[in-house]
Amino acid sequence: MKILVIGSGGRESAICWQFAKNANVKKIYCAPGNDGIAKLAEIVNISTCDFENLVDFVKVNKIDFTFVGCELPLSLGIVDYFNSCGLKIIGPSKNASKLESSKIYSKQFMSKYGIPTAKYNSFSDLNNALNYIDTLDDNRKIVIKADGLAAGKGVHVCSCKKEAKDIVHKIMFEKILGSAGTNILVEEYIDGEELSYLVFTDGISYSLMPASQDHKRVSDGDKGLNTGGMGAYAPASLDTEQLNKQVQNIVKKVIYGVCQEKLEYKGILYVGIIVNGGLPYVLEFNCRFGDPEAQAVLPLLETNLSDICIAILNQKLLNLQIKWKNKFSVCVVLVSGGYPESFKTGFEITGLENISGRDTIIFYAGVKSVNGRLVTSSGRVLGITSISETIKDAINKVYSNINLVYFDNMHFRKDIAWRALNEKS
Ligand code: GLY
Repeated sequence: MKILVIGSGGRESAICWQFAKNANVKKIYCAPGNDGIAKLAEIVNISTCDFENLVDFVKVNKIDFTFVGCELPLSLGIVDYFNSCGLKIIGPSKNASKLESSKIYSKQFMSKYGIPTAKYNSFSDLNNALNYIDTLDDNRKIVIKADGLAAGKGVHVCSCKKEAKDIVHKIMFEKILGSAGTNILVEEYIDGEELSYLVFTDGISYSLMPASQDHKRVSDGDKGLNTGGMGAYAPASLDTEQLNKQVQNIVKKVIYGVCQEKLEYKGILYVGIIVNGGLPYVLEFNCRFGDPEAQAVLPLLETNLSDICIAILNQKLLNLQIKWKNKFSVCVVLVSGGYPESFKTGFEITGLENISGRDTIIFYAGVKSVNGRLVTSSGRVLGITSISETIKDAINKVYSNINLVYFDNMHFRKDIAWRALNEKS
């Protein structure tokens, strides 16, 4: 079997790693990939949104199916394009991807199908948005969201009306997010713990993966700026049996809605949940694996990812029993110091060869090879994941392995999975 993975980060590194575990997978390609992913997959120098060249590549190399890791090509219709060329591809159609690429569509979908979420109002006019914010209670936080894809910069939790109005002005008047901010949502703030539920779906049936928890802030204790994720662990300790049932019920409603709306959805659904008063509310849908959640969850998957993909493509997911390891997984992201603001790159990464054992895996994100040496090339550099019988062990294992790795200005959080540890110890 030959598979093409689309994307270039730690998530796609984890997806390639999972595919490589199946001996029937003879060849993995990754477009555009990175020089770390090149250890497992052949790197293809075609951009994620160059659909014509990707299709040509798939045809010439007789690739069995393509797996889309990242959201931008999905939102631009890569699945529709591949399908129109008679090619198999894992990911939702352009219309289905609006669950992620339009926050307003996603909210309308949630209210239509009775999915619990924060109350909101949407605006296409700056003054209407500012006047509405004036009517709100100044003692409550206000959430401002850009409607479109904004590379993780589209959500702002504001502590007062002035802050909310300032950011609305920046998004709608100064256009700091470009066309992603043409329309915005002003949303009620819900306090609580966030959890990520990833779901396999063939558009008819679905299967939840173990719940995970991302750590978005750059510094220990959930302090500092928001990032693309500094680490994740799974299964998340907050995912009680009761909560899981409630989330299953939410996912059932989503898939019912997908069928009713005749959305083509063969891929991964990401349900971002906030738990308040013991009840789950949907914060967002994404139409692909989370990053770094994928780097924590995929190492726990026992069934071959390629078998799951084939079941999804044939809409036979219901017949497949997906097995997970009864273990804990902790992923810590190593970033360039200064990220998510300004940082330097080009530093040699040393010590990776010292990482040993089948239970610790290196996932590659912002790296490139220069004269045979691996150097940093972006803010998010590596994800290191360890799995073990207990969460405490997984944490100890991942941090003792990270101690073997070095690059100048390396930064990472020392407290990934602290909530789970507090609950277990
Ligand atoms: N970890 C959040 C995301 O992938 O969107």
